Amino acid sequence: MLFAAANRDPDAFTTPNALILDRSPNRHLGYGWGAHACLGTVMAPRALTALVDALLDTARVLRPGRARPAPAYGHDAHLRQSSSQAGCVSGPTAAPGCHTDDMLASRPLREAARAVVMDADHRVLLLRYDENGGFWATPGGSLEEGETYAIATYRELREELGVDEEAVQMGPRLAERSKDHLVGGREVRQVERYFLARVTATDVDPCRATQPDNIREYRWWTPAELHSTRETVYPVGLADLVRAVAEGRTPDKPVVLAG
Ligand code: HEM
Repeated sequence: MLFAAANRDPDAFTTPNALILDRSPNRHLGYGWGAHACLGTVMAPRALTALVDALLDTARVLRPGRARPAPAYGHDAHLRQSSSQAGCVSGPTAAPGCHTDDMLASRPLREAARAVVMDADHRVLLLRYDENGGFWATPGGSLEEGETYAIATYRELREELGVDEEAVQMGPRLAERSKDHLVGGREVRQVERYFLARVTATDVDPCRATQPDNIREYRWWTPAELHSTRETVYPVGLADLVRAVAEGRTPDKPVVLAG
């Protein structure tokens, strides 16, 4: 069956040529319609979501490319586009008049990989910094050009803890956190992913750290210590996360941390 304008029908979709990931309502025809509609309608989106999620752990966050003219779809009146809709994509390169959603808004992304470093006794290693009144935080830092989250995590562990890649048993992505900051007067979205990294405590050697930056102290914390401390620890919610891992309740999917 031929669906003429189908998913770009301006009668059914506002700005039909814009990529709007959270479009609602979204009565698209991607899985067919009627008697022969796809049987995988429920399963396929879940499988694809899991796939994209896994890819995002290893690849940098996908960004929209340069706006390109939309392909021509023949002569059907439904397929004509206004110039403001043609080739629209959300995000930094969006053409004027294009939809921009919050996820892919024009603010630049800063991606960071962080490690919840735990030893066999479920102690977690935190680093102390003096800034902002002093706080403890997990090791990690911004991705460098072309790095995946996994590669950045290994590099940060080497630079900040002096621990070799072979000594790290990388676990699942435990959590993520997203925050908007003002950097030089411009709003920047910081996206952080937290990975479980199992190490043997004796493999951590701060003397070999090549970039200890402003780290003032290294300390192993038991889950109980982390829970009861009055010191400032980032990310907020780490204590619950560490306790869950220590008790064998590693989250099935990454926890979204607020602060
Ligand atoms: C992104 C993934 C998928 C897309 C875009 C897709 C799309 C479609 C489309 C357009 C049709 C044709 C409907 C028609 O003839 O009018 C179809 C049929 C079908 N799909 Fe999928 N599909 C996907 C994944 C799956 C999966 C994972 C399964 C199985 C678990 C599946 C099972 C079927 C079956 C059995 C039919 C034939 C239905 C019939 O003729 O009665 N599809 N699909």
